Amino acid sequence: MKISVYKNKEEGSRIFSKTFVNEINSILLKKNNCTICLATGSSPTIFYNELVIHYKKKNIDFKKIKIFNLDEFYNINPKSINSYSYYLYHHLLNHVNIKQKNVNLLLGKPANLKDYCKSVEDEIKKIGGIDIMILGIGMNGHIGFNEPGSNQNTVTRKVRISDNSREILSNDFNSQKDVPNEAITLGIKTILSAKKIYLLAWGTGKSDIIKKAIEEDVNEKCPASFLRKHQNLEFILDKYSTSKLNDSLQVNRN
Ligand code: GLP
Repeated sequence: MKISVYKNKEEGSRIFSKTFVNEINSILLKKNNCTICLATGSSPTIFYNELVIHYKKKNIDFKKIKIFNLDEFYNINPKSINSYSYYLYHHLLNHVNIKQKNVNLLLGKPANLKDYCKSVEDEIKKIGGIDIMILGIGMNGHIGFNEPGSNQNTVTRKVRISDNSREILSNDFNSQKDVPNEAITLGIKTILSAKKIYLLAWGTGKSDIIKKAIEEDVNEKCPASFLRKHQNLEFILDKYSTSKLNDSLQVNRN
C-alpha cells in the first residue's frame, strides 16, 4: 500500500492526473488498449477536469481506452442529472475522444437484473480485466455502493443504499426522500480484481474514515479496509484527510 499526501485536492488531483496519464500511456504502449473503471461523487471531479486538460494538450488519447464505472442508482434514467452516467459524460466523456463502443457504464434499469449483473462480470473478464480502478470512499467506508456489511466475495449486484449514505446524497437531490433506495454496484471482489487501484479522498470530513480504512481491522464494518489486501493500491490524499493517521505510518508527503 502506498499513501501519497498532497497539500490540497487541487494539487493532489493535478499531480495524480500526470501519474495516471503516464501509466495509461505505458499500458497502451505494451498492449495497445487499456481498461479503466471510474468513480463518481465529488472526490474525482477536479481530477477529471485535469484529464480533459491533458487530452486537449494531446498528452492522452482516449481512442483505445475502455471505460467501466463503479456504480449507478437502481431504476434511474441515464439522462437524469442525478445519474452517474450523466455525471461521467458531463465531467469527462463528452470532452474527450472516447469511442462509444468502448463505454460500458452500468445501466440503472436493466431488463433482467440477474443476467445483466452476470454479463458485467463476464464482460470485464472477457476484455482481460480492469487495468486501473479509481475509487472514492463514502463517509461510512463504502466503496462503489458496497456499504458496511458487504463482504470481500461480493460481485456486481443490486444493493440497498444505507440511510447514512442517502442522507449525504440528499445534497445532490431535492430531498432525502428523492434519493433512490437501491443501486447497482461492482462488488468488492470485482474491485479487488483490478490490476491497480487508486483511492482519492480529500478534506477533514474524510479523516476518520481514512484512519479506519488504513489503520483499523480489515472487515465488513469498513468495506474500504478490504483494499489493503490488494498488492497494488495507492491512496491519493490531501493533508486534511490524513490528519488522524498515526504518525508512524510511512506516508509519502509530496
Ligand atoms: C458515493 C458513491 C461512491 C463514491 C462515494 C464518495 O455515494 N456511491 O462511488 O465514491 O460515495 O463520494 P464523494 O466523493 O462525493 O465523497
